[in-house]
Amino acid sequence: MSDNSNKFKQVISHAKEYGFIFQSSEIYDGLSAVYDYGPNGVELKNNIKRFWWDSMVRMNHDIVGLDSSILMHPKTWKASGHVDAFNDPLIDNRDSKYRYRADVLIEDYVAKIESKINKQVDKAKSKFGDSFDEKLFRETNPRIVENQQKIDYALSTMKKCLDDDDLVSFKNLIIELDIKDPISGSKNWTDIKQFNLMFSTSIGANSESSSEIYLRPETAQGIFVNFLNVQKSSRKKIPFGIAQIGKAFRNEIIARQFIFRMREFEQMEMQFFVKPGTQKEWYEKWKEKRMQWHKLMGFNEKDYRFHDHDKLAHYADAACDIEFKFPFGFKELEGIHSRTDFDLSQHEKFSGKKLRYFDPESKETYVPYVVETSIGLDRMFLSVLTASLQEENLQNDTKRLVLKIPAFLAPFQAAVLPLVKKDGLEEKSNELYENLRPFLNVTKDEKDAIGRRYRRQDAIGTPVCITIDHDTLMDNSVTFRLRDSMEQYRVDLNSVRDELLKLTNFANFL
Ligand code: GAP
Repeated sequence: MSDNSNKFKQVISHAKEYGFIFQSSEIYDGLSAVYDYGPNGVELKNNIKRFWWDSMVRMNHDIVGLDSSILMHPKTWKASGHVDAFNDPLIDNRDSKYRYRADVLIEDYVAKIESKINKQVDKAKSKFGDSFDEKLFRETNPRIVENQQKIDYALSTMKKCLDDDDLVSFKNLIIELDIKDPISGSKNWTDIKQFNLMFSTSIGANSESSSEIYLRPETAQGIFVNFLNVQKSSRKKIPFGIAQIGKAFRNEIIARQFIFRMREFEQMEMQFFVKPGTQKEWYEKWKEKRMQWHKLMGFNEKDYRFHDHDKLAHYADAACDIEFKFPFGFKELEGIHSRTDFDLSQHEKFSGKKLRYFDPESKETYVPYVVETSIGLDRMFLSVLTASLQEENLQNDTKRLVLKIPAFLAPFQAAVLPLVKKDGLEEKSNELYENLRPFLNVTKDEKDAIGRRYRRQDAIGTPVCITIDHDTLMDNSVTFRLRDSMEQYRVDLNSVRDELLKLTNFANFL
């Protein structure tokens, strides 16, 4: 088994063992691609939300918040294009009975060739050292050129098939590229069919008066339909943004990557409304700003990269992903899209209501253009867990599993631990615990030897353990034990709160 697949298994089992994530309805054998967040998970998730919300809304004077409903008028989804075009091309393998997204089969084919190219480039790099010209090598090495042509052919042919909605040619491409079922190796494929990803339900008490509605597949449309309500009530001038965190639902076909691809998930989306013609400039600004935001967490910067889209959705004039290196490879974490005036214009058309902005300076009226940033909260959670879970060898031949989560995201900022439960130490700990609670999310733990308690806190990412010992009763000081360095030092009880805030407050990381 590869290191990466081991790492992924380790993340999944750690998430369960330490109360971060459970399979939904587990006692009924689970519901596929739906997950529940346990006591530590919900704290981490709330902190990620707060990190996003504070950076997006609190720290930007030109962005305001919204919390729109999950259920929306069904015409919303006709206008947005989701009823007609929110589809995945599906293909079944007759022998294995497995179902795949046809575009993912092609993407996996491309990823394999890319990995061959990268290996060859790395080899040449180490052979030629500083004098190595990677661009020239990629352009002239015959094997690389040939492999790149294969990639270009596969992607451009797939794009044409999808643009023309030509599913017969799409299947022929899979046959031509000799793509096999990754599980069984069989090439016995069915035809490709389009499958709509929206969940539908009905609204209304009886069958005559009820009508079909959808669970929203993205939060963005709640922002678009409220554009004028928000703009007028908050008296915002363009350019300005509306941010929202909320649930979204998609009937995903391939749902085998833990919380990476879920059927019920949360999005953190921001739509930035700009004057037509300025969208390119804003798109570049948001691309830069979002990447900077990810870097605030202090993880390995090489694990983040941009992927510019060649294949643009019909409503976009530019789009890219911020990809993160998950254990199963670089995959989309966040999307940044320049969505033109498509959504607002469509809602004008379908509702018959104007969604225009009157510019008080230029006296012009126009439908604004939109630059969107959209990140999956659960995907972000998985990236944080993956990047922070580390197994360390200690001096005495033991190991520790530690979650090196940024302190402002950790489920608890500190744990208060009495060395023993007697001699008044427990009472002293409780006093400190109660004093800290209004200001910080702290936990306490009295069971087991102190070393085991440190390990437990390491495993859930608590950045500081505060130990109350017999000296505390004499000199009014406690031991701070830091998660990452395991360094220990004494702190006066009266300074504990300020010290903790210094070490863990989000503002210190900006
Ligand atoms: N409003 C734009 C939009 O929804 P998207 O690329 O379909 O764009 C945005 O989704 C983000 O939502 C993705 O980058 C990803 O992080 C997250 N996301 C999408 N589908 C998901 C799923 N099935 N499970 C978990 N997260 C998902």
